[in-house]
Amino acid sequence: MISEYVRLFKARGYMKRNLPFLYSWHAYVGYELDLYEAFKKPKTIMEVAEEHELKEDLLKRWVEVGGVIGYLKKKSKERYQTVRKFMVPSSKHNPRSTGVLLKEMMELHIPTLIKYPKMMKTEKKEQFNQKEHGMVVAQTSSLLEQLAIPRVMKVMKKAKPNTVVDVGCGSGGYLLKLSQKFPKAQMLGIELNEDVAEEASKNCQKQKQVEIVCEDVHKWSPKDKVDFVMLNNILHYISPADRTELFKKISEWLPPKGTLSVVSPIHNSKHGGQFSSVFNSFFTAFDNLYPLPSEDDLKDLANATELKLEKMQPVIREGGWYQITFTKLK
Ligand SMILES: C[S@@+](CC[C@H](N)C(=O)[O-])C[C@H]1O[C@@H](n2cnc3c(N)ncnc32)[C@H](O)[C@@H]1O
Repeated sequence: MISEYVRLFKARGYMKRNLPFLYSWHAYVGYELDLYEAFKKPKTIMEVAEEHELKEDLLKRWVEVGGVIGYLKKKSKERYQTVRKFMVPSSKHNPRSTGVLLKEMMELHIPTLIKYPKMMKTEKKEQFNQKEHGMVVAQTSSLLEQLAIPRVMKVMKKAKPNTVVDVGCGSGGYLLKLSQKFPKAQMLGIELNEDVAEEASKNCQKQKQVEIVCEDVHKWSPKDKVDFVMLNNILHYISPADRTELFKKISEWLPPKGTLSVVSPIHNSKHGGQFSSVFNSFFTAFDNLYPLPSEDDLKDLANATELKLEKMQPVIREGGWYQITFTKLK
């Protein structure tokens, strides 16, 4: 009898802990089909289904869930309206919409994690497709910028660099904001993905001191020394062996007292264990993505080069995200 209760208790626990999924699922579907926009003004399900050529029975279910979780509200004459706009993602047409994060979670992270049982038995891993997912990943990464930039700015203010290189600059968000704050510094972004590099050039086109090049950092070297190098959210693209090589290379680029600033989630850090462990589960499922470094790995990287790990500061505690400052010793 007791075991029957335990079964029920366990099943109830799984169901309850999975409830937040409903909110993410609703927001993901709403973002993909721009449905919160469609219901911006009170509309009937039939009207929206017709206007957007959607299956009415499925739309009805989505609207029902929206009502239960409080994202949509029933108005008079069978019409529904989006409410709690601060909770739902803005339109897909807005390049700054937080919906990209839902897209990455739902289309990339969750499907990959669900393949674990099969993958563990076959040892066949996934291949991360830069072309397909590069843009969404760069967009979600830029959500972090707002929190990380003040930390990086502080480090930069102290370093007073004349030259800056951002390795894996994504869509150029860091370079744009930093060049506005430090207009005298010459800045260069290196980005492997062609579409993303193009986007970065567009975003930074008003900043005359910023240049973007589409290059693989492993094959690139600067002509002169660089005072300040950034590696923001890129370490998981680089294998542990290549990380050592890259740190050695960067150490050679830097003059004495030059700065390397890294932004990354850190594995087994004091904060954010849940996030970094699930990130690592995701990265490890790919042949061409690599687990996050731990603090000890960062110390080893510094020891293998002429860099000193100066400071590790949390950017998002619950995500285990840190800004880490290294300086060149001699
Ligand atoms: C997760 S995004 C981070 C973008 C940006 N640094 C940020 O923090 O918002 C990592 C970027 O590094 C780029 N990248 C990966 N490997 C690279 C390499 N070997 N050389 C240059 N860029 C690379 C990817 O194309 C991607 O746009």
